[in-house]
Amino acid sequence: DEVKEIRASLLKWYDANRRDLPWRRINDSDDEDRERKAYAVWVSEIMLQQTRVQTVVNYFNRWMEKWPTVHHLAQASIEEVNEMWAGLGYYRRARFLLEGAKMIVEEGGQFPKSLKDLLSVPGIGEYTAGAIASIAFKEAVPVVDGNVVRVIARLRTISANPKDKETVKTIWRLAGQLVDDDRPGDFNQGLMELGATLCKPLNPNCSICPISAQCGALLESKQNPSIVVTDY
Ligand code: ADE
Repeated sequence: DEVKEIRASLLKWYDANRRDLPWRRINDSDDEDRERKAYAVWVSEIMLQQTRVQTVVNYFNRWMEKWPTVHHLAQASIEEVNEMWAGLGYYRRARFLLEGAKMIVEEGGQFPKSLKDLLSVPGIGEYTAGAIASIAFKEAVPVVDGNVVRVIARLRTISANPKDKETVKTIWRLAGQLVDDDRPGDFNQGLMELGATLCKPLNPNCSICPISAQCGALLESKQNPSIVVTDY
């Protein structure tokens, strides 16, 4: 059916176009690997909020050298963490990483594995929890950032102001229906990269988009400049 086609096409495109990023190289074949991956995804996703990928790679590599696991991070001081963060801005993000690491270690040292448990860590909200749960632990939950809002709004010809709370809720729900059960992390990252590279705000590159055949906005020639307004 249509959802299956969207999943298959997007995953095929992601496999061919994914960028080789350090946190994507970590295995997830056993529990220990998955915990290492969860920590790396957490650090990278927090750094990626408001900072471009190329800048993040350098900060990420230095961070992981100094604090390779959540246990190492939990021993750090706020001064060390701030120093490592210098230049990234929004120092609150760094403080939350440290506080979260301390909480995880105090509560037994096992990285929380479900969306629900991840949400109980300070500084981990719906977006970061969804990223860690889907990418590191293969839980079929959605991840919606600004790029994904635009992709889904076009795909499903969604209404209204994408900054509106209700619209965003609708988009999270629709993203949850789309996410691939077998490869949720790759599917979510594929949607983010599609939004960042082809499904841009202006002049999206529909001619090479893997899911153009299923795109409602393209079908109605309403893909440009932004999104269609229909009731939903
Ligand atoms: N932007 C933020 N996080 C990302 C991820 N994991 N993959 C692609 N783009 C992203």
